[in-house]
Amino acid sequence: MSDGASLPVPPDPARPASPPGRRVRVAVLISGRGSNMAALLRAAADPAYPAAVALVLSNRADAAGLEVARAAGIPTELVESRAFGRDRAGFEAAMQAALDRHGIGLVALAGFMRVLTAGFVERWRDRLVNIHPSLLPAFPGLDTHARALAAGVRLHGCTVHLVRAGVDDGPILAQAAVPVLDDDTEATLAARVLAQEHRLYPAALAWLAAGRVRVEGGVARVAAAAGAGALANPSPAGPLPALPPIPTRPGEP
Ligand code: GRF
Repeated sequence: MSDGASLPVPPDPARPASPPGRRVRVAVLISGRGSNMAALLRAAADPAYPAAVALVLSNRADAAGLEVARAAGIPTELVESRAFGRDRAGFEAAMQAALDRHGIGLVALAGFMRVLTAGFVERWRDRLVNIHPSLLPAFPGLDTHARALAAGVRLHGCTVHLVRAGVDDGPILAQAAVPVLDDDTEATLAARVLAQEHRLYPAALAWLAAGRVRVEGGVARVAAAAGAGALANPSPAGPLPALPPIPTRPGEP
């Protein structure tokens, strides 16, 4: 099925603005390697996926992900942030023009290393999504894996969230947690998290594109199956010790 054919799912009354039967056109914004972008491309290659990657945009000419996108036949745009110096509004206006040219309905940040202005973020409110390599609100910003190791946390992970004006702030769509192991280095921990990023981002973007996300009071509600059970690290070995019985009040069975 190509872009524009109907989806093999029943109509969802909560579907977003795009016309029925059309896939939402997504732009993926990158600055480097682009492995999350590649994961989104792989997911969107399935015609049943509710979004089509219509554009990969980079702010750096040397972003390796650009070549990956070109090889996959995806339109690319280069808007070099360096050329704009401190003129953030000018840079974003150039990006917006590119997004308009490609008829974009959703923007997915995937290792895009520029902080966006409140004006741009508001213009794309609830249609702008990011992946961050930590369990937010822990460790916003850079060097998340080194900071997780230094803090001694036992669980670390990644977060997909809608973007608000603060750095790595906004309603959380989904998170995946991984254990932190005693012999982890920054590299081993980053690799364990990244494997989960590649699973989580396509799923979360699909929910957004399919209109399964509502934002209520700053919190995102996602119409999708919740993960049940608890994660624990270290895992208690064997059965958990029995708890003493809870005393009952006189007269209760
Ligand atoms: C990922 O860890 C992502 O969470 C963060 O930047 C990194 C980008 O990696 N925002 P890649 O370019 O997707 O490989």
